Amino acid sequence: MPYAGFNRSIKIAPSILAADFADFGRECEAVEAEGADWVHVDVMDGHFVPNITFGPQMCAAIRPHITGVIDVHLMIAPADPYLEAFAKAGADILTVHAEAGPHLDRSLQYIRALGPRAGVALNPSTPPEVIEYVLDRIDLVCVMTVNPGFGGQSFIDSQLPKIARLREMIGERDIHIEIDGGVTSDTAGNCASMGADVLVAGSAVFKGGSVAKPAIYGANIKAIRAAAEAAL
Ligand code: DX5
Ligand code: ZN
Repeated sequence: MPYAGFNRSIKIAPSILAADFADFGRECEAVEAEGADWVHVDVMDGHFVPNITFGPQMCAAIRPHITGVIDVHLMIAPADPYLEAFAKAGADILTVHAEAGPHLDRSLQYIRALGPRAGVALNPSTPPEVIEYVLDRIDLVCVMTVNPGFGGQSFIDSQLPKIARLREMIGERDIHIEIDGGVTSDTAGNCASMGADVLVAGSAVFKGGSVAKPAIYGANIKAIRAAAEAAL
């Protein structure tokens, strides 16, 4: 498993929801070669969110094209019946939504038992206290800064204090704070200054580039990272 352990340095995780669906393998290779730290995979079931994307088979198909971390964001309900398939498909981090079912503690234990790191995602209306009693079961908390289901949406500023509250709650624990939705070089600085270390970006990384023009991916990644690090 490529997850190399916890650190709080800024990490950029391009979301392949904004990539060319007909060329995922080469798109993943291109963003990694251009500086991506993790690859973010948005799984949507058309039920928990009003959109449908891809499943464990796609995750297994891109695994050989990614040397680093595959960060799987499950926008599905229920999640438990699919966790084993995603673990077997090579997911390094498996994140379930706190709103996806009544047994979050059980789901988190199951993810860790399968091998991957366990994450919890919070929709914009969900308070941070939802994870208060599962802090020792998680490796990552994902703050949704858009309502999940689509890329290219605007960043919801009201989530910034939630990031700071989570940073306080986490204390010295090895738990990543991931920000997902509307992250650009304009919004990255505020996220980092509030305590985030993982920045997911779809449209802001893939815009203007392609597997034929990967340098644009690199420039976009660099701009987001620079804005975040400048705010630390
Ligand atoms: C939305 C997804 C995000 C999305 C981010 O439900 O979870 O990962 O792809 O895309 P941008 O960065 O374009 O908002
Ligand atoms: Zn996502």
